[in-house]
Amino acid sequence: MNKKYTIVTYGCQMNHHDSEKISYLLESLGYIPEKDIEKSDFIIYNTCLVRENAELKVYGQLGALKSLKKKKPEMIIAVCGCMMQTGDARTTILAKYKHVDIIFGTKNISRLPSLVSRHRSTGEVVVDIEEDDIIDDDTPINRNHPFIAYVNIMTGCNNYCTFCIVPYARGKEISRTPESIIEEVKELAKKGYKEIILLGQNVNSYGKTLRPKVTFPELLKMVNEVNGIERIRFLTSHPKDCSDELIDAIANLDKVCENIHLPFQSGSNKILKDMHRVYTREHYLDLIKKLKAKIPNITLSTDIIVGFPGETEEDFQDTLSMVKEVEYDQGFTFLYSIRKGTKAAEMQNQIPHDIKQERFQRLVDSMYDIFYKKNKENVGQILEVLVEGPSKNNPEILTGRTRGYKLVHFKGGERNIGNLVNVKITGHNSFALEGELL
Ligand code: SAH
Ligand code: SF4
Ligand code: F3S
Repeated sequence: MNKKYTIVTYGCQMNHHDSEKISYLLESLGYIPEKDIEKSDFIIYNTCLVRENAELKVYGQLGALKSLKKKKPEMIIAVCGCMMQTGDARTTILAKYKHVDIIFGTKNISRLPSLVSRHRSTGEVVVDIEEDDIIDDDTPINRNHPFIAYVNIMTGCNNYCTFCIVPYARGKEISRTPESIIEEVKELAKKGYKEIILLGQNVNSYGKTLRPKVTFPELLKMVNEVNGIERIRFLTSHPKDCSDELIDAIANLDKVCENIHLPFQSGSNKILKDMHRVYTREHYLDLIKKLKAKIPNITLSTDIIVGFPGETEEDFQDTLSMVKEVEYDQGFTFLYSIRKGTKAAEMQNQIPHDIKQERFQRLVDSMYDIFYKKNKENVGQILEVLVEGPSKNNPEILTGRTRGYKLVHFKGGERNIGNLVNVKITGHNSFALEGELL
């Protein structure tokens, strides 16, 4: 009988994409997927350390596995992902979670089969971390989705925002060659993929390290030319590198969706400076103005951090006013979380938790009102939706996304799954639209 594996993934799309590679490697070893951890023979945690709660969840889950491992000693437990790129987390796991068998990092996923055989033959804990900055674009991918695909265009980050641990976990920025990316996209198109999501920590600086240099808008143009692909999305864009060429590319390339995730993090210039974001509030608002002028139906989303060291009520008001001025369609808000090893962790003026929490609540309330208002504007419109599947709670209801990345629920049959359909929007709340299939 085939042995079974379960991958539990935390963090961003890149981690989810890495899990698609891990899944391929485990299946090549003869493992088959299993959702229930209790029935699994191989459990992998693909971890994130961007905020403390992501880390705490992993330790909680690993702790809970101790008794299962006692019952099933032949079961293999592996931990990988961003957390494993730091010595601290590795030391904690080796010292306190002795039932973990394999530890590996974000840059050596392709070596997993050899780590498994090493563990099997020695019975010992295997730790393998790659320190050099490399980009792996050879490992095949077991895609989670039949018609929407993530495509990595780069790895790492050179920006060192002072709050952020990602550059320490993922290393220096390296871009994949356009040839290799286009080859992957063409292959996906052949297999019937309709939507491509290009991934990088800062896609706008794509290609800077390549010779000859290639810019991100140039790459978008190449992907736009691949026959069969219907929609192109990308994340994440850093405002400091968001060029006029990129705005023109969104406006002019037919497959590039009219949607951009453009994190602003804080509306206060003083905080932006301390965050080392390298742009001002005015520059950001100017970008938004250009985006709205050139792409009238653009939808906008963002990330915001509340309670960065030194944030006063006045700074926070600047963040609130920014949200009101831009009018985002979607957005993610986070409580600032101290990450050891980053510059902001050393700052003296940390904000007490209750103040962060209270500001967070005010911000979220204000954002939800805006999302509501923005979704209301869609009522009465006919929007193109890529149908993803039945809704979780009701099999008669289908869900999908518009080009603007809005979630839409509507009645329809399974034969529509994977197709682009037109839906007339009839209702909404802050987070989704409701409609009728035309
Ligand atoms: N590369 C992306 C972001 C990756 S992390 C970018 O630059 O836009 C995703 C989001 O997590 C960030 O945009 C930020 O809002 C949030 N984040 C990162 N570090 C954080 C920290 N220490 N505390 C709280 N939120 C954080
Ligand atoms: Fe982190 Fe800043 Fe890099 Fe984004 S751009 S991953 S926030 S350091
Ligand atoms: Fe992503 Fe978390 Fe790593 S946000 S890059 S999985 S630290």
